[in-house]
Amino acid sequence: MSNFTVVEHPLIQHKLSILRRKEVSSKEFRELVDEIGMLMAYEVCRDMPLEDVEIDTPVAHMTAKRLAGKKPVIVPILRAGIGMVDGMNKLMPAARVGFIGMYRDEKTLQPVEYLVKLPTDVDERQVLLVDPMLATGGSAILGVETLKKRGVTNIKFVCLVAAPEGVKAFQVACPDVPIFAAALDDHLNDKGYIVPGLGDAGDRLFGTK
Ligand code: URA
Repeated sequence: MSNFTVVEHPLIQHKLSILRRKEVSSKEFRELVDEIGMLMAYEVCRDMPLEDVEIDTPVAHMTAKRLAGKKPVIVPILRAGIGMVDGMNKLMPAARVGFIGMYRDEKTLQPVEYLVKLPTDVDERQVLLVDPMLATGGSAILGVETLKKRGVTNIKFVCLVAAPEGVKAFQVACPDVPIFAAALDDHLNDKGYIVPGLGDAGDRLFGTK
């Protein structure tokens, strides 16, 4: 699959296996999503542009490197995306955070946007759109469309577990947006859950049912 990366880092894979276990408490689940979010951010930011900066160490003058351009924006899709924000923000403390809220219409089963809060200059920034589960792809695609409507051209989608159905739908709708996932699972079941997956990420994060 082009434009689709499974981040194979051993720490991510180890933590994801713990996260999937049904006996893991909400507290542990939140901590693990936080940690995996941080590790995913490390991988996803590999190609961030750098520029030269002149500095003095205690020993000598040197030309060093620093991140160039505007700070990125982390945009969680509510509600489960929130679980990944703190971890990513730890690595990128100057990043802005935006929000896209969606609910699923009970009749059409399609995602409907109810909240969009983004920096005014979001179109000039790299956006990391985050949602732990890429299931049907509906929310992720709507999230990308929402960003594109506001002029954003530089988007990466970051998730933990992806279903092949969601990846396919996303790639058809948003071929220019790379996906980074910690795992590609087997399939979606008839209730829309990823199999084997990890259950409902929002419920597990926030202890709801
Ligand atoms: N959303 C979830 O939280 N889990 C799934 O398995 C699918 C969608």
